[in-house]
Amino acid sequence: MASNRELYFELKKLVPMKVNDSAIKLILLDINGFASFSELVKHFDEQAKDLDRYQEIISRVMAGVPIQYALGHAPFLELDLIVTPDVLIPRPETEELVLFAEKIINKEYLGQREIKIADIGTGSGAIAIFLNKRIFKSTVFASDISSKVLAVAKENAIKNDSKITFYEGNMLIPFLQEKIKLDVIISNPPYIEDETTIDDNVFLNEPHLALLAKPASQYYEEIFKNVHAVMKKVILLFFEIGENMEGALTLLIKKYLPLADYEFHKDIYGKTRFLYIRNDTYEQE
Ligand SMILES: C[S@@+](CC[C@H](N)C(=O)[O-])C[C@H]1O[C@@H](n2cnc3c(N)ncnc32)[C@H](O)[C@@H]1O
Repeated sequence: MASNRELYFELKKLVPMKVNDSAIKLILLDINGFASFSELVKHFDEQAKDLDRYQEIISRVMAGVPIQYALGHAPFLELDLIVTPDVLIPRPETEELVLFAEKIINKEYLGQREIKIADIGTGSGAIAIFLNKRIFKSTVFASDISSKVLAVAKENAIKNDSKITFYEGNMLIPFLQEKIKLDVIISNPPYIEDETTIDDNVFLNEPHLALLAKPASQYYEEIFKNVHAVMKKVILLFFEIGENMEGALTLLIKKYLPLADYEFHKDIYGKTRFLYIRNDTYEQE
């Protein structure tokens, strides 16, 4: 028998690297089945609901399992997503990317017509599901190279009442095969070239398929190369990028999309982590 307050202080004493404040909050919400922090505050001095699950989660976390995998789910803005070790844990930078994309897409198209959006390398489905819920009249497609990853993304789409069409395949290839024309491409592809730069905890636990690329710009180039074949008259492209990729990506834009407008954007820590490209038709149609 223990109250939420007692568990909170017990968790505070655990190694802070493994259980920080946001992890404590996630654990207490999970074991009580609460949807919000305010619910936890309201029931702080009451018995915690599922102590067996609490013990199970703590032993996994203390063994080095990231909190989101130990819980089996993770928040992504207002979504709650199932995460298994097959999928990357959705990151706060990616929340910034989708909020930025939502703003630009709505500015460009708000309510005008059906907008076709593709999330390439969808992982948990975080980007695709969020945009499907937030962009009025959106038809959202999502692809990944891994069938195991897609199984998780599909579960997440159902769990979050989202209608997404999923394709298994390499980058834009499914869209070329299906002859799908898109208004928006968004992607957070693998972009880490040197595995020694990856945090041990990430390297040991998260899927390398989601992380590694050689060169770092490999997957961006694969998308740039095929943009003309999948675009309508205008296409908007949004990418999460690694730090220090601005130079290499600028060269690739000039090579494959020479007339496109593009902007690099910084994240809340001042690091250049996002790329927005607007490409207008100039040869075809
Ligand atoms: C960095 S993760 C991003 C996951 C998710 N979109 C997110 O932002 O949380 C990259 C994803 O790309 C997928 N991937 C890797 N190589 C791919 C390829 N050649 N074609 C399509 N997807 C690929 C991985 O399986 C992984 O799910």
